Amino acid sequence: MNIILDNRCENCGYGIKHTDGEGQRKWCFRCMTVYYRKQELKPEQAEKTIIKLVEPKYTFAKLDDLDPGIKEQLINLEQGRDLYIYGPVGVGKTFLMAALLRHFIYEGFECLRINFDDLCVKIRSSFSPASKETEWELIKPYKKVDKLFIDDLGLRSKEESQFAYQTLYSTLNKRQERILPTYICSNKTINQIEQSFDSRIASRLSTALAIELTGKDKRREYQNETIQKNKGVLE
Ligand SMILES: Nc1ncnc2c1ncn2[C@@H]1O[C@H](COP(=O)(O)OP(=O)(O)OP(=O)(O)O)[C@@H](O)[C@H]1O
Ligand SMILES: [Mg+2]
Ligand SMILES: [Zn+2]
Repeated sequence: MNIILDNRCENCGYGIKHTDGEGQRKWCFRCMTVYYRKQELKPEQAEKTIIKLVEPKYTFAKLDDLDPGIKEQLINLEQGRDLYIYGPVGVGKTFLMAALLRHFIYEGFECLRINFDDLCVKIRSSFSPASKETEWELIKPYKKVDKLFIDDLGLRSKEESQFAYQTLYSTLNKRQERILPTYICSNKTINQIEQSFDSRIASRLSTALAIELTGKDKRREYQNETIQKNKGVLE
C-alpha cells in the first residue's frame, strides 16, 4: 500500500482527498469547491463575474471563436499546467485569454486577471506610506486563486519594474509549488523574457504550454464586429 498515493485526490491527483457528504467523491477541498460552485452557478452570476474581470471589449470572447486547433489545445490542457501565449500586436492574445477565462468561470473555477503593467503600478503604490495595503496583502490573492491570468508581460523595462518581476517570480513560484496554473500572454518569446527581463521567471515558464499566435493585426479586421457585439451586450 502506498499511503501517499492513496491519500491523493481522485480528481486532480494532487490534493489530499476528503470524502464529500454523499461519500461519492474522494476529492480534495479545492476540487470539491469547484464542483459545487459549478453546480450552483447561475448564468447571470457567471456573466457578472466575467464583466468584473474582463474589459468590455473582450467580455463576449468564447473558445468557439478561436481557431479550432488552438481551442482543442486549450481544452486538453492539464489541470495544473501553465500557459504562455505569445505573438505580435493585435493577433488575439488578450481575446484568447478572455475566452479561456469565460470557459473556466462556467466550469466553476475562481479566476483573477491582471495586466502586468497594472500590477507594476499597484506594487509601486503599495510602497507609499499612505498605502492601506502592504505588498504582501496585495499579492496574496494572486498566489492562491484557482486560475491566474496575466496580460502583457514584458512591456516595462527591467530597470523600471525590477520589484514587480521579483513579485511575479514569487507568485509564479508559489503557484507552481501549489500546482495552480498561471496563464500569461506577451509580445515576447520566453527566450526574450529570459534575456531582457528575468531568467528565473523564464525558467519557470519553460514548463508551460507555449502557443504562438501568428497572422495579421486583427484590430482593424474585427473593429466593426466588436462594436456590434458590444452594442448587443450594453443594450
Ligand atoms: N478570434 C477572434 N474573434 C473575434 N475577434 C477577435 C479574435 N481575435 C482577436 N479579435 C479582436 O481583434 C482585436 C485584437 O485582438 P487582441 O486585443 O486580443 O490582440 P493582442 O494580441 O492582445 O494585441 P496586443 O499585443 O496589442 O495586446 C480585438 O479587437 C479583438 O477583440
Ligand atoms: Mg493584448
Ligand atoms: Zn483535487
